[in-house]
Amino acid sequence: MRTQVGIVGAGPAGLMLSHLLHLQGIESVILESRSRDYVENRLRAGVLEHWVVDLLTQTGVGARMSREGLMHDGINISIEGRLHPINFKTLTGRGVMVYGQHEVVKDLIAKRLADGGRILFEAEALQVDDIAANPTIHFRKDGKTQVLACDFVGGCDGFHGICRTSIPDGVLTTFERTYPFGWLGILSASPPPSHELIYAYHQRGFALFSMRSPTVSRLYLQCDPDEDVATWPDGRVWEELHIRLGDDARTRLAEGQVLQKGITAMRSFVVEPMQHQRMFLTGDAAHIVPPTGAKGMNLAIADVLVLSRALTAFYRTGGSDLLEGYSHTCLQRIWKAQRFSWYMTSMLHRFPADTLFDQRRQRAELDYVTSSKAAATALAENYVGLPMD
Ligand code: FAD
Ligand code: DHB
Repeated sequence: MRTQVGIVGAGPAGLMLSHLLHLQGIESVILESRSRDYVENRLRAGVLEHWVVDLLTQTGVGARMSREGLMHDGINISIEGRLHPINFKTLTGRGVMVYGQHEVVKDLIAKRLADGGRILFEAEALQVDDIAANPTIHFRKDGKTQVLACDFVGGCDGFHGICRTSIPDGVLTTFERTYPFGWLGILSASPPPSHELIYAYHQRGFALFSMRSPTVSRLYLQCDPDEDVATWPDGRVWEELHIRLGDDARTRLAEGQVLQKGITAMRSFVVEPMQHQRMFLTGDAAHIVPPTGAKGMNLAIADVLVLSRALTAFYRTGGSDLLEGYSHTCLQRIWKAQRFSWYMTSMLHRFPADTLFDQRRQRAELDYVTSSKAAATALAENYVGLPMD
């Protein structure tokens, strides 16, 4: 099998890359280790930056999002139970869209297949050879090992994929920070406590009150990173959510059937450069942010937009300047998103090793961002998404 761009991974990065390339007349094949059903139902991020909303709409994959997504003008920050709204629309003229990552994935898969795109599900990439000249991706499908030959490889296979590790030792530098907590997340058949998201700071730890629709909530609690989900029966989860929201009378947060529950660890991670010869890493394959800033999926889409433009220029003119500059271009945005995600994470979580000084400083930071227009504007412009061009 041969194509122009071999893509490993059918997450938001791989699917969007294939879609954008198709619009420019460039062929690709996506290899995805999981089934279609699995990737379409894998619950992850939920907030789209304003320019991602525009990009999905302009490229013909925004129709369901504009019907079913929830446009939000801002967020609330809760400090020990008191709500402080931050209105992005007033501060920046822009808002964000709450629309689940798995819905974006469903829309992109449907569009790629309708446009004649090739996505091989349950096809696990094993290794990539000859990255320097004639890349070949070895993969296993239906028990047989096969080969996909291509001009370029899109390494869109997430943090645990094989593309990053196919790059020889010594090429990449890793920058990493781990956090002494994780997030327990539930999906619940109940309305959210507020029309817009609530990021809650509390002595007992952070909580986030988000949603997927007016009747389905997505709720998170700061927990220990290596905790077993079995130690969090539904009753304990609801109790803790009420406390961290300051909902002492149990009147603000409706409880409902818990549809899904899981624990996610937190890390900040970047590799530089994000490319080697004919292999280009995108999204979680190259970088991870802690989820507090809602940046993960947005960064993945930003990378593939840059890569699709560079590949388009190459196939049109033979010029490789944009391809050579891919990593440098992406990293400027990525480090700003890393900074913002670290800022939101450190402002809102309880760190077990914090001194009393640290706690007072953290409260001052929260008081500042909820009372100063300048500080709130800095948060808002990062949250809605820094300009792409
Ligand atoms: P992925 O979505 O990980 O896609 C990579 C794809 O590659 C997967 O489909 C995988 O099956 C496939 N793959 C891997 N290895 C191979 C192989 N060898 N062969 C073929 N295919 C392969 N961000 C937020 O902003 N908010 C959140 O609440 C949030 N929650 C998250 C929860 C979890 C459990 C995780 C893992 C991430 C979460 N994120 C969140 C981050 C966000 O979802 C990611 O940044 C986003 O998925 C990145 O997209 P991607 O396409 O780069 O990678
Ligand atoms: C969601 C996840 C986030 O990490 C975030 O910052 C906001 C919303 C969500 O899943 O809805």
